[in-house]
Amino acid sequence: MDPKQTILSMLRAGRDVVSGSELSRALDVSRVSVWKHVHRLRQVGYEIEATPKGYRLVTDPDIPFAWEFPGREATIHHFQRIESTMEQARGMARSGCPHFTVVVADQQSAGRGRLNRSWHSAAGGLYFTIVLRRRIPPALSPRLNLCTSLVLADTLRRDYDLPAAVKWPNDVLVDERKIAGILAEMEAEADRVSYVNIGVGVNVNNDPPPQEPGAVTLRRLMGKPVSRKQLLAVFLDRLEARLASDSMDMESVIGTWKSLSITIGRQVKIVTLQGETQGRAVDVDSNGSLILELADGSLKTVLYGDCFHV
Ligand code: BTN
Repeated sequence: MDPKQTILSMLRAGRDVVSGSELSRALDVSRVSVWKHVHRLRQVGYEIEATPKGYRLVTDPDIPFAWEFPGREATIHHFQRIESTMEQARGMARSGCPHFTVVVADQQSAGRGRLNRSWHSAAGGLYFTIVLRRRIPPALSPRLNLCTSLVLADTLRRDYDLPAAVKWPNDVLVDERKIAGILAEMEAEADRVSYVNIGVGVNVNNDPPPQEPGAVTLRRLMGKPVSRKQLLAVFLDRLEARLASDSMDMESVIGTWKSLSITIGRQVKIVTLQGETQGRAVDVDSNGSLILELADGSLKTVLYGDCFHV
């Protein structure tokens, strides 16, 4: 175990101070070495008071350092500021990083959204990309995106008691306002996916820019700041379990997605880089494509695009 994890868990559990000798016994290192670890934690933002009786954790920064995720330390890569977690994750995926590697950043200088839009990534938000390696045919990869959005919506419903819903293709909304967006990138060789990188941006404690009036944050909905670390930890556990379980079969993913969807039954406008289509969203097929009923009654299958409820 990383000594930082032992120190933090003992300080968090301690009602008052935890003595240097208790920590040095637990870590089996000298008190000077304990002091060095404490010093390193202070340098990255943990406020730890040193008193003659021992150490006390005064404030715990809400930063998703790898050691904050016991069991995942080796696969979580945290950056304070990065261009985009998508670029970083793509490089790691191409170099052969393991399934479920996570790149998380406190801020992105060139965050990307769907359809070449930029994703405003100010401090306080949660921005991460997960590298998924499932040897599935490329055509089935949209199920991974749908699965991600439904697990996120489900987490917001279960753990935060929010009426979260999904909007095709991959947005998570609360009361019709966007709380999270998902962007997927895939590379395949022959007829099998080599990786699918799923980027997730969640408005947590950040201030969305004025050009996104339809956005909402978890802090606003909950009336207080929300821990990004905790949200990421719960979400990763749920997503990993869901991807590993039998419930990854398409019927179940699509069925659950539909039950959380606010798109089906609505009049929508689909915008792609090529143009726009309007119609009534009637279904999502087994590939995750949206089925639209056009004004003349004909059906049209839409594989990708941005969806606006009209
Ligand atoms: C959208 O709704 O248009 C998708 C937004 C996806 C944003 C996330 S933030 C983490 C990851 N890194 C990026 O540059 N984009 C995704």
